[in-house]
Amino acid sequence: MGDAQGSLKNLLTLCFLAGLVALSSQASTPCALREYPAGLVCVCNATYCDYLENPSPENENEFVIVSSSKAGLRFDITSGVINASDFTQVVDYNESLQNATQEKTVFEKAAPRTVTIQVDREKHFQNITGFGGSFTGAVSYILDNLSQDIQDHIYKSFYSPHGIGFNLMRTSIGGSDFELAPWAYNELPENDTTLSNFTQLDPRDEKRIEQIKRLKLVTNVENLRIKAAAWSPPRWMKTNNKWTGMSRLKEEYYQTWADYHVRWLELWEEAGLPIWAISTGNEPTNGVYLMMFAKFMSLGWTPRKQAVWVSDNLGPTIRSKYQDLVIFGNDDQRYTFSFWFKMMKAKRSDSVDYLTGLSVHWYWDDIFEPVFIDDARKEMPDKIMLVSESCIGDKPWQSAVPILGSWKRGEKFARNFLQNLQHDFNGWIDWNIVLDEQGGPNYVSNFVDAPSVANMTNLNEFYKQPMFYTMGHFSKFIPEGSTRIAAERTNVNVDTVAFLRPDGSVAVVIFNSGYASVNVEVRDTKQGSIKINIPQKSIHTILYK
Ligand SMILES: *[C@@H]1O[C@H](CO)[C@@H](O)[C@H](O)[C@H]1NC(C)=O
Ligand SMILES: *[C@@H]1O[C@H](CO)[C@@H](O)[C@H](O)[C@H]1NC(C)=O
Ligand SMILES: *[C@@H]1O[C@H](CO)[C@@H](O)[C@H](O)[C@H]1NC(C)=O
Ligand SMILES: *[C@@H]1O[C@H](CO)[C@@H](O)[C@H](O)[C@H]1NC(C)=O
Ligand SMILES: *[C@@H]1O[C@H](CO)[C@@H](O)[C@H](O)[C@H]1NC(C)=O
Ligand SMILES: *[C@@H]1O[C@H](CO)[C@@H](O)[C@H](O)[C@H]1NC(C)=O
Ligand SMILES: *[C@@H]1O[C@H](CO)[C@@H](O)[C@H](O)[C@H]1NC(C)=O
Ligand SMILES: *[C@@H]1O[C@H](CO)[C@@H](O)[C@H](O)[C@H]1NC(C)=O
Ligand SMILES: *[C@@H]1O[C@H](CO)[C@@H](O)[C@H](O)[C@H]1NC(C)=O
Repeated sequence: MGDAQGSLKNLLTLCFLAGLVALSSQASTPCALREYPAGLVCVCNATYCDYLENPSPENENEFVIVSSSKAGLRFDITSGVINASDFTQVVDYNESLQNATQEKTVFEKAAPRTVTIQVDREKHFQNITGFGGSFTGAVSYILDNLSQDIQDHIYKSFYSPHGIGFNLMRTSIGGSDFELAPWAYNELPENDTTLSNFTQLDPRDEKRIEQIKRLKLVTNVENLRIKAAAWSPPRWMKTNNKWTGMSRLKEEYYQTWADYHVRWLELWEEAGLPIWAISTGNEPTNGVYLMMFAKFMSLGWTPRKQAVWVSDNLGPTIRSKYQDLVIFGNDDQRYTFSFWFKMMKAKRSDSVDYLTGLSVHWYWDDIFEPVFIDDARKEMPDKIMLVSESCIGDKPWQSAVPILGSWKRGEKFARNFLQNLQHDFNGWIDWNIVLDEQGGPNYVSNFVDAPSVANMTNLNEFYKQPMFYTMGHFSKFIPEGSTRIAAERTNVNVDTVAFLRPDGSVAVVIFNSGYASVNVEVRDTKQGSIKINIPQKSIHTILYK
């Protein structure tokens, strides 16, 4: 190695050490990268897991950029100066390892593409309710088999501000598909309109509640908001007397089914976990025409029948006891928006008034354009709009088994988060926070991927997927109460969305899905210009005052 190279290396080492000192003073721990055939994950075990204390720019002249990339950056920090004439380089993971003499790729040799992002912090859009994941029976079962230290790392990875700062959570009223078996309360006695046997929670709830309380304790999550949904009532309430297949709620049990929801809310509240929201039921179309695909617990509703139930039973019953509980409508796929609500309204005009939120599942977003949700937003501008379920592996053409390290899957999340936030969504709740290597357990083998995967063979490790970090580029840096502000890009070389945070600082998420680095200039109406060069296949959050 020549002298020039040697001193460059020393300089780099010094910078690296200085960086480490700065990082350790922020109580941060880097990712323990491991390579699998499809890409890189961060490995956590009982004694080690990566965290990042929320960085913030030192002063008005500085910006901080947090970066993750296909090549191996995971929440790495670079800082720079506002109004600098040069582009601050975000050095990709493998470039920082490689020898200076190494040949650049054809793409890298060409002059980098450029894009300007104009941020107007005076132009406001929606406020953010938050981001979260789901605590299903499968999640509860997996956690229960892991040591307390590993459980705590899973809780903190998702819900601590040093993790990805989730504040929303979805859970099921009774069972869901991610369970070891289908179940509901008061399965016996049958035809029991008084729900005489639903006086206490199921042991599976008690376990889940104990775990969620532990999660709250170890993460210091502020204002955890739990949203619940029922997948199916006990079979005797249904026309087909089965867990799955084409079904309706028997009309003689409309009020019983509303009472059942209130009973559940009361019991969870008594157990110390008050509930923020419920929905009118998970994926009602599964029991109407999607029985071929959804072989798990479900209850079919048409919008008209549901309007009657909400207007006559659920709405008044909930409001008599819980005035402020958020009630989300639909809880089904994007293509059912907004005709579902139009039909409800046509049948019973007050039915939609009981709904304080609209929630949607992301599964067909690649086929159905956002115009479906834009229509709903236009008609009901004051309702909270959340994505309430998302995961990859649900389609026959996708691998259901988790693909460890898949950056492509991480990118899919980035792309869809950007699109929904640009279309005025107030937040996003992902599906299972952790699954096993098969993408279960699931009693109907409806296996899917998850942002973290536990090794249920050695019970000693879990793996944080690229999806965890791409979601984290939003959830960690865009806290509840942030407001989206205008961010116009001059071309499609990168995608972006920007927020004004409650602390007065700005967070700009920038996503480069291309195979070459891009020169990005962020022009802020107040602060001036931030110039950065971001590597291929990467996602970033820029923070400045
Ligand atoms: C836990 O992970 C750390 C960091 O990768 C490693 O040094 C340590 O050996 C691991 N511990 C066990 C018990 O595997
Ligand atoms: C760095 O990683 C990217 C993405 O994985 C790859 O395309 C590129 O060839 C790598 N470069 C080097 C020098 O290893
Ligand atoms: C980097 O340079 C060193 C010293 O010249 C050499 O031994 C090593 O093989 C090089 N590594 C790579 C990845 O080229
Ligand atoms: C966002 O929140 C602020 C402060 O509470 C409020 O003034 C504003 O109207 C909200 N914006 C929207 C679009 O709801
Ligand atoms: C998880 O724990 C249950 C009961 O504690 C046990 O029956 C089961 O075998 C365990 N599963 C795994 C994968 O370790
Ligand atoms: C009440 O439910 C429990 C648990 O499902 C069941 O074992 C019991 O038989 C039920 N009681 C009656 C009276 O049906
Ligand atoms: C419940 O009602 C159904 C439908 O009327 C009836 O077939 C069934 O026998 C009833 N079950 C009991 C335990 O009474
Ligand atoms: C899980 O642990 C087992 C046993 O140590 C090991 O053979 C396996 O490769 C691990 N799984 C993954 C995905 O690393
Ligand atoms: C950057 O330059 C702009 C325009 O000259 C100026 O308004 C702004 O205050 C500057 N920002 C900083 C942080 O110095």
